[in-house]
Amino acid sequence: MTEDEQKQAAAAKAVTYIKDGMVVGLGTGSTAAKMVDLVGEKVAAGLKITGIPTSEATATQARNLGIPIVGLDKVSIIDLTIDGTDEVDPQGRLIKGGGGAHLREKIVASLSDKMIVIAETKKKVDQLGAFKLPVEVVQFVAPALKPRLEALGCTPELRLTKDGTPFVTDEGNYIYDCDFGKIDDAESLALTLSTMPGVVEHGLFIGFADTVIIGTDNGIEVIEI
Ligand code: A5P
Repeated sequence: MTEDEQKQAAAAKAVTYIKDGMVVGLGTGSTAAKMVDLVGEKVAAGLKITGIPTSEATATQARNLGIPIVGLDKVSIIDLTIDGTDEVDPQGRLIKGGGGAHLREKIVASLSDKMIVIAETKKKVDQLGAFKLPVEVVQFVAPALKPRLEALGCTPELRLTKDGTPFVTDEGNYIYDCDFGKIDDAESLALTLSTMPGVVEHGLFIGFADTVIIGTDNGIEVIEI
């Protein structure tokens, strides 16, 4: 299977977990977008769900497909969230945020009874860290935070858009993509980043994934964490 087919296969398996009446967190990114398309087909065929989008892009996609969506001001418990990832390790720990939506993605995942992660096979890694860790920071403190992030042992690069201006997240923040190399102690790094004033959220998702569905050359692999 091509990478696109692997993503599609993982998305197709994940939507079989959605039942009538559920509140469903809708992830962000190219894999999650395939899942949202499939949810749209099911809604058109009569499935009744309430969607919680994890980004403005996903909200727009869901609206266009006729999926009913609400914000977290209306719902505090989410039955199931389905989202993509940039890396997943054997313990189900993730690096997310390649699309810059990890702040809302982590909030939605944290309020969910169950999180299903969907990905193509190349996202499965033995150790996290080949993908640069996205760290979302408040704009005005970004220059001052750079040396502090470097002191943690990484090379932070301010994420830019195609026209060379800083990428701004849905919540109005900047992102440093931080090259730590292989991350030996993800828990400790996550805690350090979470307690750094000015850091809004980082892309390490630890203890969130319940089920990981990987599209592979030979079909799908379902891993229960
Ligand atoms: C969005 O911010 C990310 O967390 C995505 O879920 C992640 O980058 C996976 O994206 P793709 O499915 O496009 O690889």
